[in-house]
Amino acid sequence: MSLFKNLWVEKYRPTNLDDIILPDDVKDKFRTFQKEGKIPHLLLVGPSGRGKTTLAKIIAKELVESSYLYINASDDNGIDTVRGKIRSFVEEASPFDKSHKTVILDEGDRLSPEAQDGLRNLIESFQHNARFIITANNGNAIRDALKSRCHVVDNFALPKKQCLVRVKHILDSEKIEYDVENILKIFDDCLPDFRKVVEALNISSSTGKLIYKKESTDVGKLANVVQQSLANKSITVEVVRELLIKKQDIFESYEDFFNLVHTVFYESKTALKDKRKVTILIADFNENIKFVKDVELSAYALLIKIKAVLFPETLK
Ligand SMILES: Nc1ncnc2c1ncn2[C@@H]1O[C@H](COP(=O)(O)OP(=O)(O)O)[C@@H](O)[C@H]1O
Ligand SMILES: [Mg+2]
Repeated sequence: MSLFKNLWVEKYRPTNLDDIILPDDVKDKFRTFQKEGKIPHLLLVGPSGRGKTTLAKIIAKELVESSYLYINASDDNGIDTVRGKIRSFVEEASPFDKSHKTVILDEGDRLSPEAQDGLRNLIESFQHNARFIITANNGNAIRDALKSRCHVVDNFALPKKQCLVRVKHILDSEKIEYDVENILKIFDDCLPDFRKVVEALNISSSTGKLIYKKESTDVGKLANVVQQSLANKSITVEVVRELLIKKQDIFESYEDFFNLVHTVFYESKTALKDKRKVTILIADFNENIKFVKDVELSAYALLIKIKAVLFPETLK
């Protein structure tokens, strides 16, 4: 994940309770937990981009100060994970050691019913030395038996005032010029999803000034992010590829997608000679795409070639 650090969503993921945006009463509740030094098992429920994963990590690191195990249930959702990885992690905890082991189960609504039952059993068996933090977009997918063993936090209505403070902090840190009107336009289009807000800021600040144009489609946004990542030396092409593969479902073909990347490149600050080289590469790709067996491989090669045009040393 650290490879993504240059994208603002990762770079500006809050690492402490002061920085994360939360409704006041929710933040107060966590401060009380912190003061008392006691954290219940938690179920954090809300739509994406509200800070659930971020909050889970802050709790594990800042509030509990324990070693923690992070599992994303979208990748690991079966009973084997519960019986294997999770169980052996919590078993390591000594009953004499006061510090708890913490397990974060991100996107816990993806856990199979069997895995949820297994988890409930683990919670009971290791009540004294392990804490569980489960996040879910859809609270209804969490079984009642599991829910009832957790303290549920489902208010992630992020106050606009705090959002504005955070956005100003990000823009000031990046030394971006802005007027508040543009920020409010982004809020109108993106809130209550704060991840979208940060992505929009990132995409709209490439000139050093915040200029927000609403992207017409998700594809446009993705092309923009990919273009930026390609043009940023410290982001490797493998990261760009990963991004592309993850989002494959939102565009029809690689051909369409690279045409869009091309358009975005042409409007960017890239040097004209580099724009021309990239144009030729994309045109070649389009011409040959009918004949290639493995389109994904060719798309990957194209990413490497584009990167090498902009940063020749990456191929050395
Ligand atoms: N409440 C929040 N406070 C500050 N930043 C946030 C908040 N919610 C989302 N973000 C931004 O969006 C990114 C994704 O947040 P994340 O915690 O993964 O959301 P979720 O798990 O609810 O989908 C974070 O890295 C951060 O940049
Ligand atoms: Mg999340």
